[in-house]
Amino acid sequence: MYSCFSLFSIAGRALIFYTMGKGVGRLGLKGKMVFLALAFIVFIDRVDGNIKPTKKNSEDDKKAELLNRPPIKSIQSEDGDIIDCIDMHKQPAFDHPSLQNHIIQMKPSYDPIIDTTMKKEESSMAAISQLWQRSGSCPVGTVPIRRIQKRDRLLGANSIQKYGRKNPYVIRASNKTENQDIKHIKTRTSYYPHVNRSDALLLTQGYHCIGAKGDINVWNPKVESDDEYSTAQIWLKTGPSSCFESIESGWVVNPSLYGDRQTRLFSYWTVDSSKETGCFDLVCSGFVQTSHEIALGASVDPISVEHGPQYYISIYIFKDTNTNNWWLQYGDKINIGYWPAEILGLLKQSATYVEWGGEVYSSKIGNPNHTTTAMGSGHFAWDLFGSASYITHIRILDYSMSLKYPLWVYASSEEEYCYSALFYQRGYIMEPQFYFGGPGWNPILCP
Ligand SMILES: *[C@@H]1O[C@H](CO)[C@@H](O)[C@H](O)[C@H]1NC(C)=O
Ligand SMILES: *[C@@H]1O[C@H](CO)[C@@H](O)[C@H](O)[C@H]1NC(C)=O
Ligand SMILES: *[C@@H]1O[C@H](CO)[C@@H](O)[C@H](O)[C@H]1NC(C)=O
Repeated sequence: MYSCFSLFSIAGRALIFYTMGKGVGRLGLKGKMVFLALAFIVFIDRVDGNIKPTKKNSEDDKKAELLNRPPIKSIQSEDGDIIDCIDMHKQPAFDHPSLQNHIIQMKPSYDPIIDTTMKKEESSMAAISQLWQRSGSCPVGTVPIRRIQKRDRLLGANSIQKYGRKNPYVIRASNKTENQDIKHIKTRTSYYPHVNRSDALLLTQGYHCIGAKGDINVWNPKVESDDEYSTAQIWLKTGPSSCFESIESGWVVNPSLYGDRQTRLFSYWTVDSSKETGCFDLVCSGFVQTSHEIALGASVDPISVEHGPQYYISIYIFKDTNTNNWWLQYGDKINIGYWPAEILGLLKQSATYVEWGGEVYSSKIGNPNHTTTAMGSGHFAWDLFGSASYITHIRILDYSMSLKYPLWVYASSEEEYCYSALFYQRGYIMEPQFYFGGPGWNPILCP
């Protein structure tokens, strides 16, 4: 398995081959060829996930076919999605080299720790249903998987090898966008801005987190180009900004992944800043799903209305301390599935920082022509409830085994005049809220 740490072992292999290669000098031409072929195979063998590199684009269709499994039942959703009910034991997770002998954990070994002090305001409502559920349901023993259709890949600029993956997180060395906020936060945390990405976050650090939750307000921000995306999510991370491990969930508008601009529920993981590993939903191997009710990648419904009804999704990610699997819980009671310990590195122990907020991916970030892709509702954080996007009921779980509000939080935005971040609390008793987002490009503030 690739991780930030196993990269060293690959460097080690390279060295061994180099040393051996000196001996190869004494071999004839045939021997040299055999040696090179062997070396090549070992390197290719290290490519993670179920998709190995191919040279021919014509093979993409066949590979896309392979990504879809034979369904026990299929459900045609009103929004054009097809949801396939797949035998739980034949889901993509088991293609992962580390999960060949994995035994499914059907449910967490204990009920997740809940916060009894948490009161939900009536000013907003949970969006727990998914549109496809109106057209049918998957039987127990199967998991609903969103079928990859041709339109998904036609829109996407990405090749099939990169389908379902993020581009790597590369630290951005820029003088222009680095405001005082970022400078301050860098000295206190392992946080750095990344190439092609703009974040507005609330972050906490200094705990050994084994859980984090939040209620995420649901919107449908504008996404300018097909190869851009906009999220509202929770990250649990460990490791330095140049090579971190992360498990994530929330909603996203991501045309190159889903073929349209609907707001969709997603999960994601990586153990090396998305350099070699990582996967959205069940598009490639890793995440093990156990729920027959919720489909990752399916659209979230309904969407909040400006100065009208506000909807949110509840996301709770917590580690099962008996198995070290990280569970993803949705809507306060549905365990969707888990990221198995086998695919994780240091995250097996704990997350050392947690972030809540939004991320925009675009190659037009940090350029003179900023992208018009919006974050959150498309309104700035200072517009507050009913207009700006929020995350509330922010909690972490540490080894004290009680869900708590983190004592130290920091709200930060990389480009505060494009996407802003505001931590807001009315009095000490009220539930704190994190507001974030913005329109991206605008002629006065974010040209
Ligand atoms: C940042 O500024 C320094 C000195 O002002 C300069 O040498 C460097 O090239 C700049 N870096 C970028 C990425 O613009
Ligand atoms: C940033 O975007 C450019 C243009 O699409 C692309 O060539 C580059 O690989 C991207 N880099 C990262 C780290 O995403
Ligand atoms: C910015 O984009 C507009 C249209 O997309 C283009 O006409 C203009 O030349 C661009 N400006 C720069 C500085 O790239």
